[in-house]
Amino acid sequence: MRAPMAVVGDKAPRVHIWQIGCQMNSADSDSLAEGFAEIGLRPGAALDDADLTVLVTCAVRQHAEDKTNGKLGELAEWKEERPGRAIALTGCMVGEHGSDLLRRFRHLDYVFDMREPDGFMARIRDLYQGALNGPVPLPASDRLCAYLPVILGCNEMCTYCIVPFVRGKERSRPKDQVVDEAKRMVDRGVVEITLLGQNVNSYRDPASGIDLPHLMSMVDRVPGLRRMRFLTSHPRNASSDLMTAIAELETACEQFHLPVQSGSDSCLRRMKREYSVADYRTVLEKARTIIPGLSLSTDVIVGFCGETDSEFEATYRMVEEVEFDTVHIQAYSPRPGTAAFRRPDDVPRALKSERLQRLLELQRKISLHRNQALVGRTVEVLVEGIGQGGRPFGRTRQNRVVWVNGPAQVGAILDVRVESATAWQLVGG
Ligand code: SAM
Ligand code: SF4
Ligand code: F3S
Repeated sequence: MRAPMAVVGDKAPRVHIWQIGCQMNSADSDSLAEGFAEIGLRPGAALDDADLTVLVTCAVRQHAEDKTNGKLGELAEWKEERPGRAIALTGCMVGEHGSDLLRRFRHLDYVFDMREPDGFMARIRDLYQGALNGPVPLPASDRLCAYLPVILGCNEMCTYCIVPFVRGKERSRPKDQVVDEAKRMVDRGVVEITLLGQNVNSYRDPASGIDLPHLMSMVDRVPGLRRMRFLTSHPRNASSDLMTAIAELETACEQFHLPVQSGSDSCLRRMKREYSVADYRTVLEKARTIIPGLSLSTDVIVGFCGETDSEFEATYRMVEEVEFDTVHIQAYSPRPGTAAFRRPDDVPRALKSERLQRLLELQRKISLHRNQALVGRTVEVLVEGIGQGGRPFGRTRQNRVVWVNGPAQVGAILDVRVESATAWQLVGG
């Protein structure tokens, strides 16, 4: 932290939170906003109006870091425009670079660890105390869907991944704390909750040892909750109990995100994923048998160190055969400090990009085919907003985006007959 900041004005400072990265960062941004409101700052400000900007960063790929670096560049000018403005940075780049960021970016005022924000919050409270008048109400939220972290950190050591280094060891939150937070969210109007963890299916309540399916059954009973999802599962711990919970709990949506990363056993070994392609496919078959109407999604990395043509072709075949509903495909990005960083990043950039495009095109056709099979069928849609031209949109239990023909209230849950489909969305009325 640099100090002291020049405090200008006697009004409670307005805070703009900028965020990049995964759902964990969305949850962290929400909890920061709550923390600021508690000490009397006003979160939810547009950048132009803000006095303090907080960047919640991601380090999973170089591209994510480049975006934050670009944002910091833009903010240099923003800070110059008005005296008293300040910039803080937190999130996963802090775990990687620490306070070195303060040296690299001269206009950055604070760097803090998102796992221990209390010191930063106390510092801000002391600094602005003359302008603070106790807690301010959070701006009314019209949010229907929220993320609820249940387990933090990750104990896996996938050789390409920086997350365990920047998010630390696994720590499960007590089950009662999770349920209380779910109740508070529902009281504020939330109807869909996604339970979060890098490896959410290794959740264990610290006192009783109860697992994720059991925790889901507790959250399922929160009055007023309509939908529950969970992210992200490791194939190694995808138990039958978890699948039964999805099938049987009323709010649990028929959606399973199970990152495979590669369809080649040799590549999976180099990634240290601890399962084979056959193990993975057995899990999927079991899930599809236990959960009717299940939608499956996955993550794939192309161009990992040493990925041969035949290893990539194995991934291509697996994606073709499994027919996922959605596949998130990324080109491998070497991350300092990881085990894979010591190996040569030897798949040329053009070849990574060619493999990525081929997989994207394959999945586009599969998603189109799977969505078109829904034409004429009725799907349950939670209306989440009104888009361009006043058209309502929302998602199905399987997480497909639907545009609704005709009027609909935000928050309504409708049965919609699908009239047409593209690879990315459905349209119906
Ligand atoms: N915990 C989850 C799992 O086990 O797959 C995923 C967490 S990670 C934040 C999200 C995705 O980023 C991963 O599934 C992987 O596909 C991708 N990813 C992680 N490290 C990467 C890297 N170095 N290069 C490219 N993609 C990466
Ligand atoms: Fe990263 Fe692997 Fe942990 Fe997922 S399970 S966060 S890919 S180390
Ligand atoms: Fe990025 Fe950190 Fe998530 S590295 S993907 S924001 S856990």
